[in-house]
Amino acid sequence: MTVLATRTGAINLGQGFPDVDGPAYVKEAAKAAVDAGRNQYAPGDGVPELRHAVADHQRRHYGLDVDPDTEVLVTTGATEALTASILALAGPGDEVVTLEPFYDSHAAAIAMAGATHVPVPLTPEGLRLDATALRAAVSPRTRMIVVNTPHNPTGTVLTRAELEQVADVARDADAVVLTDEVYEHLVYDDAVHVPLATLPGMAARTLTVSSSGKTFSLTGWKVGWVHGPASLVTAVRTVKQFLSYSSGAPFQPAIATALADDETPRTLAASLAARRDLLCDGLVTAGFDVVRPQGTYFVIADGAPLGFDDGYELCRRLPELAGVVGVPVSAFCRAGSSAARSMRSRVRFTFVKREEVLRDAVERLHRLPR
Ligand SMILES: Cc1ncc(COP(=O)(O)O)c(C=O)c1O
Repeated sequence: MTVLATRTGAINLGQGFPDVDGPAYVKEAAKAAVDAGRNQYAPGDGVPELRHAVADHQRRHYGLDVDPDTEVLVTTGATEALTASILALAGPGDEVVTLEPFYDSHAAAIAMAGATHVPVPLTPEGLRLDATALRAAVSPRTRMIVVNTPHNPTGTVLTRAELEQVADVARDADAVVLTDEVYEHLVYDDAVHVPLATLPGMAARTLTVSSSGKTFSLTGWKVGWVHGPASLVTAVRTVKQFLSYSSGAPFQPAIATALADDETPRTLAASLAARRDLLCDGLVTAGFDVVRPQGTYFVIADGAPLGFDDGYELCRRLPELAGVVGVPVSAFCRAGSSAARSMRSRVRFTFVKREEVLRDAVERLHRLPR
């Protein structure tokens, strides 16, 4: 869809990357690290100041007690943390449960591991957890439950009650939970991000993944991390050793500096909440149905009220019809699944663009025939 946007000159509300960089002082810190000669391989598990900064961050925000030396692994973005975790802990004969729609790299990593992917659809109306369906999806072969909150592509922020239901199922199935929390600071209104590892007894079976890309608008730096019990992190580190061995040396101290800064993510969340409103209101007045997201960069809009029953078709035609690009929600579902069917007419748009870009996109979306 990004290629389509470039070719047609359409506004790219498909891929979620900010069009404004993160703070200058963090960029300066990376430049200083380059100049200070931090240009050779970083330690495989990450530079000590970043591992300590991750542990401090988890303690400060969530009261989690994390040992920076044995329980934190720095990775090349959250993507490597997720892939290495799945490759480390699941294999042929194992089942890995995810919510559906799911972030695409979760499904790809499960496939690479040779494990069986068992997706559990969110409720089609409110895009919430269906705890009954989750319980029905686990089996004696369930090795891992992958959770993503705040959730891409829906923007759903799972509540503590929903996460307690996930935790109950995980405990009963004796499964590891892999929780993707890259949008942890990008929550709006009265929504609160609850890390799954903070629920009673869950730290012992949870790998928590996050990254600096979304929190500090530096998605191209690909600095991520995973933390959890030392035995699980050791398994993940063993896989990472042969994926990348070690991650971008000069960016790590810069992100360690950034992680002490709570103001930048707070300001970003406030600004994103306003931009979410701008895009959601525009989509509604253009004729879409919208489930207003409480987190992430994304909103899901339904083209059915405008007569577009197939989101994929709508996305192919959107550049020509309106000069805008989105991504069909079916791209985040398994082909032919019940979620793919119930969400067939829906499209994901990002609002992590400057206000003037969003205003232009909204104006263009009003050109759609009604
Ligand atoms: C849910 C989710 N997880 C992981 C990632 C990847 O994060 P990173 O760029 O740190 O690898 C993204 C990026 O879009 C995402 O939306």
